Amino acid sequence: MTCLSKQIPENDPLRIAEQEIIIDQAITENKERPGAVMLVLNEVQGKIGHVSPSMQAYIARNLKVPLGQVHGVVTFYSFFKTQPRGKNTIKFCLGTACYVAGVPQLIEKAKQMLNIELGQTTPDGQITLEECRCVGACSQAPVIVVNDEVQGKLRPNKFPQIMKKVQN
Ligand code: FES
Repeated sequence: MTCLSKQIPENDPLRIAEQEIIIDQAITENKERPGAVMLVLNEVQGKIGHVSPSMQAYIARNLKVPLGQVHGVVTFYSFFKTQPRGKNTIKFCLGTACYVAGVPQLIEKAKQMLNIELGQTTPDGQITLEECRCVGACSQAPVIVVNDEVQGKLRPNKFPQIMKKVQN
């Protein structure tokens, strides 16, 4: 591992020895293979749960590819996350039926209550807010998915109850 810059956040995997090993291993095992960028990113996402900007820079440097190439893959596929996810995930279905039925209002309510944006995690690491595509429960619109549980016909005033349940 090369000398770390001071800009790497405290909780970044590049500062955590076991996670640093995972990243180095993924690079060593895949660097000579075709599609190395995707292979390394997949492995890091799968094992660590996200690929932060500093991890992207580290991977690009060690695979000797432009940072833009790594960043391009990460931003193109929604599977890749750039921040650590919380213990719990609340996903908002952005399919047409849910959108029309009021998912935007649900998102606003959740953002207000937690003081974070979609794609972010609360500072205590408890809850991540994300969007998702149609989950096949359109008759229940608007739908959210709390961890793996689909909850439908939601109104913004139900949110405090849901948050309480999730946080407990
Ligand atoms: S559009 Fe939301 S479940 Fe289908």
